[in-house]
Amino acid sequence: MIQIINLVKTFNGQTVLDGINLTMPTGKITVVIGKSGVGKSVLLKHIVGLLHPDSGQILVDGEDIVQFRGRKLREFRRRLAVLFQGGALFDSLTVFENIAFPLREKTRLPEDEIAARVRERLSQMSLTTEVETKFPDELSGGMKKRVALARAMIQEPEIMFFDEPVTGLDPPMTNTVFHLITKTHEASGYTALMVSHDIPEVFSVAHHVAMLHKGRIIAAGPPEEFQNHPDPVVQSFIRGEVDFLEA
Ligand SMILES: Nc1ncnc2c1ncn2[C@@H]1O[C@H](COP(=O)(O)OP(=O)(O)OP(=O)(O)O)[C@@H](O)[C@H]1O
Ligand SMILES: [Mg+2]
Repeated sequence: MIQIINLVKTFNGQTVLDGINLTMPTGKITVVIGKSGVGKSVLLKHIVGLLHPDSGQILVDGEDIVQFRGRKLREFRRRLAVLFQGGALFDSLTVFENIAFPLREKTRLPEDEIAARVRERLSQMSLTTEVETKFPDELSGGMKKRVALARAMIQEPEIMFFDEPVTGLDPPMTNTVFHLITKTHEASGYTALMVSHDIPEVFSVAHHVAMLHKGRIIAAGPPEEFQNHPDPVVQSFIRGEVDFLEA
């Protein structure tokens, strides 16, 4: 279980996270929704250890990772994988090299074993071996997302982070990527945090949903319950109503 307690983060006088409390159950997919610019990526970067809070705790197995430095932080990072917003593939590496990258960085596996694992992940993502030699620029958006997902999954992470895994994809590809995430989750049972504003599709992949608004989690619960939440801000967001951009 990952537990975020009273997390606060201010950038140049702008308080983005204003006392976040959130529990991510072990082995489940927790999805944080909220409108653009609300601080979803900032929240995720704190749990990965890329940003440091002004105050608050992030407990993983009872230990506060905010206090982790050096070797402890590196050890913690080895347990997780991140699918960054935008995919962040290496443009100068082929699909094969991209997916193999974490294994080459973190393990001493022989080449034939690396190749076998890369191909297994490609097929899991319904990608043919023909794409192996292509470069990211030659791929469609949906293919890029699936390659990025294959690269994240090859690390067999215990904890997975997804930042907007389907943004910019068409509805069938959105459903395909969510289906692939569900499939990989069923196969390996990682604990996941996903941030997304793709409503309502994201409810199909979530076990637990929370909404971030004005620096706080204003609602949380299982997807069915969450969709009937009485808060008008939640309902208006779920229905995609026009946002009058409050000052
Ligand atoms: N490193 C930083 N320095 C200063 N301000 C930052 C930094 N990172 C994020 N912010 C600010 O924090 C706020 C939240 O940004 P964030 O990227 O988390 O939004 P988001 O909810 O992920 O939006 P989107 O849905 O568009 O991805 C924004 O106002 C952004 O400008
Ligand atoms: Mg973001």
